[in-house]
Amino acid sequence: MARTPVFLALLSLVVVASALATTADARKMVGVYVLKKGDFSVKITNWGATIMSIVFPDSKGNLGDVVLGKDTLAEYVNDTSYFGPLTGRVAQRMARGRFVLDGKVYHTYINDGRNAIHGGHRGFSKVIWTVKEYVGGGDSPHITLYYRSFDGEQGFPGDLDVYATYSLSSPYVLSIRTNATALNKATPVNFLQHTYWNLGGKGSGNILGHTLQLFASRYTPMDDELLPSSGRVVPVAGTPYDFRTPTPIGARIRQVTGSNKVFGYDINYVVDGEGMRKVAVARDGASGRALEFWANQPAMQLYTGNYLNGTKGKGGEVYQQYGGFALETQGYPDAVNHPEFPSQTLRLGQVYKHDMLIKFSF
Ligand SMILES: *[C@@H]1O[C@H](CO)[C@@H](O)[C@H](O)[C@H]1NC(C)=O
Ligand SMILES: *[C@@H]1O[C@H](CO)[C@@H](O)[C@H](O)[C@H]1NC(C)=O
Ligand SMILES: *[C@@H]1O[C@H](CO)[C@@H](O)[C@H](O)[C@H]1NC(C)=O
Repeated sequence: MARTPVFLALLSLVVVASALATTADARKMVGVYVLKKGDFSVKITNWGATIMSIVFPDSKGNLGDVVLGKDTLAEYVNDTSYFGPLTGRVAQRMARGRFVLDGKVYHTYINDGRNAIHGGHRGFSKVIWTVKEYVGGGDSPHITLYYRSFDGEQGFPGDLDVYATYSLSSPYVLSIRTNATALNKATPVNFLQHTYWNLGGKGSGNILGHTLQLFASRYTPMDDELLPSSGRVVPVAGTPYDFRTPTPIGARIRQVTGSNKVFGYDINYVVDGEGMRKVAVARDGASGRALEFWANQPAMQLYTGNYLNGTKGKGGEVYQQYGGFALETQGYPDAVNHPEFPSQTLRLGQVYKHDMLIKFSF
């Protein structure tokens, strides 16, 4: 069953890929890979380790794609909204793209005003990963992607080995396991998965009616540049950031301003507890679809698609503001410039591991 779609996807790929790669080698390397278990399927490309689509039923049995994205790989290359990739080497914003490590000053690529975001202009979301292993169907469909980041890439120190494995375990569970090893220099490391969700599927409008529950009783206030410059960690109690009980995303969104006075959440939560644990639940009453997010990271960014604004998406759809939300488990943003935050510095001999689990129901 799973063979045919996989084979077709790979075939069409050869054509699409030629539009974006300049060398013959790279052209051969970019592909679209389908992981399929019954009526649950996930489409991934090794361009940026990106999730292109996730399809599963709603409560009436209708299949729908619940992630925002693009139709062609060529459009992913130009994408500036980060639809579905793994971002790094240091995800989220880093003040002035500057940090000091072991007495040495480093300057990384500036690509968000005067700051760096998601690892720079050509972070891990904008490179071709090597497919190490791929099994599309059967009991445990999975794909393992590998990237060797080089010393000085986007300004970061040292060679770094990076792995990301996407796998389908029980019928409706997607597991994402990443790890990184520094080969010759200590370096900051912080990856996140930047999928935008809309559980209503295509054409269902915005996500303001989805309810969200976040297992997070504290957050890091952000300044006008969306940096946690004060270094403070404060309670969510009594603020519009409090999602400890299930609350519609839109209920208090007009009370929250990000940068440029645009309303919406773009904020880092400190997740309660530690280790692999449930961090969030999102539910769409209309479709009956729900997601449970698990992760082993200390923090999590909530972004409500505040800057989507007539953005061209899949199948002729146009994404408007709040057309999707992202829940990005992560280390604290800009940790490398905040000794009061848990460290994100990876030293020689250590292994960075970021594990995520997403459980789908309907
Ligand atoms: C990507 O951007 C370049 C430069 O702006 C443009 O020429 C090209 O047509 C774009 N490709 C797609 C598929 O949108
Ligand atoms: C990183 O992940 C890859 C792929 O799953 C695995 O083979 C490797 O052993 C992992 N490395 C470490 C140090 O855990
Ligand atoms: C969306 O785009 C329109 C037209 O370019 C612009 O007037 C408006 O301010 C934009 N809205 C946001 C939230 O960026």
